[in-house]
Amino acid sequence: MPLQITGTLGDPDLIGLPWDVPLAQWPERHLVDLPRGISRHVVRFARLSGKVYAIKEISERYARREYQLLWDLARLDAPSVQPVAYVTGRDEGLDAALITRHLQFSLPYRAVMSGTLRPDTLTRLLDALALLLVRLHLNGFYWGDCSLSNTLFRRDAGAFAAYLVDAETGELHPMISEGQRRGDIDIAHVNIFGEMLDLEAGGLLHPTIDPMDTAEDIVARYHRLWDEITQDEIIEEVDWHVVEQRLRRLNLLGFDVAEMMVRRKVGTGRLIVRPKVVDAGHHQRRLLRLTGLDVEENQARRLLNDLDGFRVAQGLRHEDEAIVAHRWLAEVFQPTVAAIPAVLRGKLEPAQLFHEILDHRWYLSEAAGADVGLAAAVRSYVGTVLVHKPDEKALLPDEPVE
Ligand SMILES: Nc1ncnc2c1ncn2[C@@H]1O[C@H](COP(=O)(O)OP(=O)(O)OP(=O)(O)O)[C@@H](O)[C@H]1O
Ligand SMILES: [Mg+2]
Repeated sequence: MPLQITGTLGDPDLIGLPWDVPLAQWPERHLVDLPRGISRHVVRFARLSGKVYAIKEISERYARREYQLLWDLARLDAPSVQPVAYVTGRDEGLDAALITRHLQFSLPYRAVMSGTLRPDTLTRLLDALALLLVRLHLNGFYWGDCSLSNTLFRRDAGAFAAYLVDAETGELHPMISEGQRRGDIDIAHVNIFGEMLDLEAGGLLHPTIDPMDTAEDIVARYHRLWDEITQDEIIEEVDWHVVEQRLRRLNLLGFDVAEMMVRRKVGTGRLIVRPKVVDAGHHQRRLLRLTGLDVEENQARRLLNDLDGFRVAQGLRHEDEAIVAHRWLAEVFQPTVAAIPAVLRGKLEPAQLFHEILDHRWYLSEAAGADVGLAAAVRSYVGTVLVHKPDEKALLPDEPVE
């Protein structure tokens, strides 16, 4: 079979790499030396016209499969390395190869730890890994080999962001089952325990870190996160502040909430609140569709959260979305903006004004221990915040002088 490269060949020079030679024997001139995790297969990095690629030698069946899965993950916007192509029909006796884009600034976990692994670094790595596993599961992806070695880490301010690097064993389903989730968590537990033992044996573990505790810790972190994201919350009555607290926690975890499903608990006055978690960018589109307001993503998220709260408060759970949105615009959004004295209204965009008022309401409510209501928030915001703000229009540069 002749040499065949299948994929999105952004770089035609990839064809010119020495595919008829085993990857382990490629000449230095094609390669770059970057940190790499432990792996069974040979993995090398090649640089072509300024881009760096990771190449993994692997059987044809697995190369094709992993390529396909990485594509699926990319389409779902899940944090993983990006596939480029797979190469088959290399010389007799040579495995196929999978090409991915090298994930810039990424580090395998052993490179993250300089010397021994310290407890605070470990905590941040585990947080990132738990979040990655939750994200994958939300997308219906069963990993089958979750471990520190199969994850890449990027520094993200003080934290780490984790990416899946090895999808060989993965499966994508429309929705993940409880059994698959449990299986994946068990595998992560076993793998991480093993990795910790390896580090310990190599004298690379801080003496206060216990391998078994660490493995259990990752499982506990995963469950906390999963529950926060997916679990129903039961509230006694319509207390918007409790719902908003939940939304804030989700947003802080990096998730967006597409919609809140609210049901009345049978036979009680209680409400069951279930958030539906989604990817970013979603809110801007949804708000524009529902209200015609074209705003930034964070503003849109905020406005939609308020809209969903309005739906709960007004008992409009079964009402058509477009009708609820229309009422919210007419009864909440527009009156709020209109309540701001005309001379101050031009200082910020309406959506930003509304967003800041909601923020202000949040702080007032936190301080008061209960929701202060929108009208009080507007008055306080105008009197204590907005009057002191510079007029953004006035900040625009002067017309150039001819
Ligand atoms: N796209 C990439 N960007 C950065 N590093 C990568 C990339 N692809 C692979 N690597 C590095 O190569 C290492 C090995 O890759 P991978 O885990 O896919 O190999 P493997 O042999 O299938 O592993 P296993 O032994 O778990 O089967 C990774 O830990 C990572 O450090
Ligand atoms: Mg691996």
